[in-house]
Amino acid sequence: MLLSGKARLRTVDFGLSTSHFALLTLLLISAGSLSAQKTSVQNIEPRVEALLARMTVDEKIGQLTQMPGDISTGTDVAKDDLLNQIRSGKIGSILSHTNFQNKITMQRVATRETRLGIPIIFGFDVIHGYKTIFPIPLAQAASWEPDMIERIERIAAEEAAADGQHWTFAPMVDISHDPRWGRNMEAAGEDPYLGSRIAAARVRGFQGNDLSANNTLAACAKHFAGYGFVEAGREYNTVDVSEQRLRELILPPFQAAADAGSATFMNAFNTINGTPASMHKHLVTDILRGEWTWKGLVVSDWNSFGEVIIHGAAADEEEASAKCIGAGSDMDMAGGTFLKGMKKALDNGKVTNAQLDEAVRRVLRLKYMLGLFDDPFKYLDARRREATLFKPEFRQTAREAAAKSMVLLKNDGGLLPLNPSGPFKKIAIVGPYADSRSHKDYMSFWTLGIGTPNYDSTQVITPAMALKPALEALGFEVTVVQSDLSAASDEAAYSLSIQAAREADLVIACVGERGLDCGESRSVSDINLPRGQERFLRIATSNGAKPTVMVLFNSRPLTFAWANENIESILVAWQPGYETGNALVDILTGKVNPGGKLPVTFPRSLGQVPLYYNALNTGRPQERQGQMWTSGYLDSPTTPAYPFGFGMSYTTFAYDAPKVNKSKIKAGETLEVSVTVTNTGKIAGSETVQCYIRDLVADIARPVKELKGFEKINLAPGEKRTVVFKLTENDLAYWNGDLTRKADSGKFKVFTGGNSRDVQETEFLLEK
Ligand code: BGC
Repeated sequence: MLLSGKARLRTVDFGLSTSHFALLTLLLISAGSLSAQKTSVQNIEPRVEALLARMTVDEKIGQLTQMPGDISTGTDVAKDDLLNQIRSGKIGSILSHTNFQNKITMQRVATRETRLGIPIIFGFDVIHGYKTIFPIPLAQAASWEPDMIERIERIAAEEAAADGQHWTFAPMVDISHDPRWGRNMEAAGEDPYLGSRIAAARVRGFQGNDLSANNTLAACAKHFAGYGFVEAGREYNTVDVSEQRLRELILPPFQAAADAGSATFMNAFNTINGTPASMHKHLVTDILRGEWTWKGLVVSDWNSFGEVIIHGAAADEEEASAKCIGAGSDMDMAGGTFLKGMKKALDNGKVTNAQLDEAVRRVLRLKYMLGLFDDPFKYLDARRREATLFKPEFRQTAREAAAKSMVLLKNDGGLLPLNPSGPFKKIAIVGPYADSRSHKDYMSFWTLGIGTPNYDSTQVITPAMALKPALEALGFEVTVVQSDLSAASDEAAYSLSIQAAREADLVIACVGERGLDCGESRSVSDINLPRGQERFLRIATSNGAKPTVMVLFNSRPLTFAWANENIESILVAWQPGYETGNALVDILTGKVNPGGKLPVTFPRSLGQVPLYYNALNTGRPQERQGQMWTSGYLDSPTTPAYPFGFGMSYTTFAYDAPKVNKSKIKAGETLEVSVTVTNTGKIAGSETVQCYIRDLVADIARPVKELKGFEKINLAPGEKRTVVFKLTENDLAYWNGDLTRKADSGKFKVFTGGNSRDVQETEFLLEK
């Protein structure tokens, strides 16, 4: 959104209407966990009603309007006319504003120079940290540590709230099966169970247990819904999924976010089964507000109310306003559609006053919940800001998170960890990400505002900055050559790296995607290592003859068939954030034993996509490539390069067969599945023990495996631990053909193992 933000803003008739804006609700009522908030909600309702009764229609529409701040407009608020818009009550919320002082000015104008003094709510995309930049969300998911992810979001919220933000447009909880889609980096991968655990953790981290505290943010579960299933992985494209699949795969993380109390939700850009998500009444009103009894605020995505006209589902702003608010969506982000069309829609009876009031209530409620009416400047304390941003302990967590996110895919001959007393003395750190000065290479598109005076891009530790001194201290001789991808040709870009690699005993090749290759509007049609990097690897390693560690920087599953065959060690580093180099030191030297596991399948080729572990069996499953009349390819196996849940360690783990405590369970009973895992290697390590099920005979076809539990354990050498997973009837239930959720009686398989492929199994019966 960022790059096109300015352009889009110009298309908005910014001078037209009224407003203030945004608010939110609080699930809290239904979430049950936040008792302090429950109490506040009760006190808030009369205040909301009293204020609403005093508001004009224009003021109400203003409260439903959110407009972009300095990331799109530049930093001079007065010049951008934003202050005048606030003064005249046309804006209730500002998104993506970085300048602290200007936020104070805007809040002053909103609260002291408007008729009703309703405070502004500031929203921001706090996606993987605010000032202290953490690994991308997909990488964090590879840690399989919801508790750590919650800590990360706590830090992100603390920094953002200290800088005057009230609301983050996160977590993104979209499930996807398509690596082409650029926004994979923002989510938690392909699995609804893992995705749900992480969604809830993120909401808890952002919101803490008191939304009105000055170090918490309102969360926003997005994009509701289906965005991860855009056809051909092409950004903003059509989504067509059955309701059964929607409920089984796409909605669970949203429901988990709602249950965790996410204060807001965001519509998706896409159509879903023909209807733009922003005006999808079944999704927003029937499911979210109805079935889930969620009480929060729904904000559009950037101009997604206006885009329903472009989709061809509304004639003009009047109709778009009516359809979007009529579906249950509340606040208009960046497009100005409500400013242009809502009043006409009211005048012409297409929107009722009751509908308008309900949306405004949700905005006001959120502002009350955040404590903004009690003290509009509580998030704008310069001294607290100074004391909070970039705290050294935040970087410790960033380093921990980056190291725990990394996934070791291959380690032939135990090349890693690097051994100072081994045969290799001369190390070359080479490639386009060895020591890139483009700070975003190790982060992502969503480090908004980095590069503006408010942010410090020099905070990034590149691989070479940390690895060179650390490896030299261990006695290695280290050369660093950064390939310059802006060079006129691949030859020019890679020649010095190639030379350095040839002169070394061991190569650390830093390859992959740039940070700006991922995020919104960054879909790709090819997921091979980009920019001539496979050829570079072949030449630099003398066709695989040179011992090499490939460090992959990526934001989505990539394919690298040649490297899989020819390179000894492959480490998925993702985009690790500020602590990139330090985390690599931890992993490559063995200070931290890798424990990350893929939250998403890595295919062998793009032609296999969509490829995901929890697929249906087909009537003709293939056992081996070439087996005719089965579901496969003539030219490729059906299996992935690396399966969901996969990741190696420097130690080894042995799994005993799983055991169940009873062979049959009845409704209301709990099955215990236990598995004993032993560290059979020589060093301590962590292992994520995974538990999957398969419903063998159901009313409809069920996936060959479904993740139902995981536990990450640390084991000393020789230590063994028994992990127990508990399954109830609810864990066996699914959305069946007539769209009711139930479990079938009959036989189930249960599998345990260290990834979705390498498992052992047993069986049990559900009797009803
Ligand atoms: C993105 C959202 C984001 C919003 C505000 C949109 O373009 O799709 O995820 O929160 O912009 O920046």
